[in-house]
Amino acid sequence: MMNKYAIIPKPFSIQYGNGNFQCSGIPKIAPSVFQNEADVFAAQVKKTFGENVFAAECCISLAKMETSADEKTGAESYRLEILPGEIKLAAQTDTGIFRGLQTLRQLVLSGYCDGTLTIPCGVIEDKPCFAWRGLMLDCSRHFFSVDFIKNLLDALSLQHISIFHWHLTDDQGWRLPVDQYPLLTEIGSKRCDHRLGGRVSGEGFYTKDQIREIVSYAALRHIEVVPEVDLPGHASSVLAAYPGLGCTGGPYRVEDRYGIFEDVLCAGNDDIFPLAEAVFDSLAELFPSKYVHIGGDEVRFSRWKECPKCQKRLTELGLENPAQMQSWITARLAQMLRDRGRVTIGWDEILENTEKFPLPEDVIVMSWRGQEGGSHAVSLGCRTIMSPQSEGCYLDYRHINKPEEIGRLGIGTIAKGYNMNPVTPQMNETEASLVMGGQGNFWSEVIYACKLAEYMIFPRICAISEALWSDNKSKDLEDFGKRLVVHQERLDKLGLLQYKGVLE
Ligand code: ACM
Ligand code: ZN
Repeated sequence: MMNKYAIIPKPFSIQYGNGNFQCSGIPKIAPSVFQNEADVFAAQVKKTFGENVFAAECCISLAKMETSADEKTGAESYRLEILPGEIKLAAQTDTGIFRGLQTLRQLVLSGYCDGTLTIPCGVIEDKPCFAWRGLMLDCSRHFFSVDFIKNLLDALSLQHISIFHWHLTDDQGWRLPVDQYPLLTEIGSKRCDHRLGGRVSGEGFYTKDQIREIVSYAALRHIEVVPEVDLPGHASSVLAAYPGLGCTGGPYRVEDRYGIFEDVLCAGNDDIFPLAEAVFDSLAELFPSKYVHIGGDEVRFSRWKECPKCQKRLTELGLENPAQMQSWITARLAQMLRDRGRVTIGWDEILENTEKFPLPEDVIVMSWRGQEGGSHAVSLGCRTIMSPQSEGCYLDYRHINKPEEIGRLGIGTIAKGYNMNPVTPQMNETEASLVMGGQGNFWSEVIYACKLAEYMIFPRICAISEALWSDNKSKDLEDFGKRLVVHQERLDKLGLLQYKGVLE
């Protein structure tokens, strides 16, 4: 009874009623101001069940609800009422309507069988705890097709994921077109794979039209696309295209190995800044999001120690060590983005070596090496997003500790992701208010086919979505596990490849 609906993420409140809503077919949505949301719902239903499943009647109605005082989460709140003869959905915003329709989509996926839809009567009132509920997809190590990404966005929207963090550049491939720097894609998007006898592989970049297509496809699903361009490290693909931007001058290659590489952008070379300006112009043109992720992780400083240009820069800036040049670069990049009306996000390394150039307060820290970076950030008054590798947010880790499983570097069980709380016990109320939410990160080093990514992402992202949407005070892994069994049948109907083993 408790779990009749088996919705993931668990709604704020459910009150079950008597009887069932029943319909011969999947009901249509009555015309309203929420036409976009209704159209996406219909397209998603059609994609799963085919053209001919819709009932003649329109017995789903959408209505606007009064605005509540709860600004943080009110925009996504909704009230879904399942009655014997009709389904009523009300929300304050189109996003709230969309989230409510996704909950209904879950009930339809479970309740539609042999031409009849049956849903137990009840009322669901729902709202999220955190607004930032994301998935990061690494499209450098593996180049994911536009179709795959669109299908993924449809699957993610089912669990109210709100952010698609698009990792567009790394050592192994540059995927973003930049008009003034054509070699970034001409050279930087192709890697010569020495493991394949030197064949060109991992090839591709997204055209501007494809990027716009994905951004608008996501927007219709109330998912914001946040691009990442990793600077000044993880830059082999940039250096292969423009060797003059490295400390040694090369030669460089788009990497086919995995790891962290010594060659990074030369901090002493003024030419790295016009490149960054051009990259940010391209991002500003293509991505409406106010956020841009600049990476900043795992920068090696060995070349900066040796390079005469970097040493000159260090002296001019009066710095004590080469590492402090990263915080100088971060501050400059953040200003460039501010000039374009954008807010900077960086991995938690941007908190380090900031003695001379403090991290600007408007910069957001994405905490990945545990939650310490995020805790540190909020203590400085910066906002944070939690994606700790130690707490089940790294979806490239193995699901469980078995050599048969795909994955690398560590173990990230479903239970870990479920138990993640982006607010740590040490944070005070002000600090907690600076936690925007969290996300799962999917790195694609070991992926050679898009389909395998589904197995790594699902169902872990469902657990993470619950950790971010639902109340962290009433966690119950056993209850989640029971709902997950039902939910995975829904994901099967979407045709996703999923891990189906133990939770921990
Ligand atoms: C990271 O995993 N290097 C952010
Ligand atoms: Zn240098």
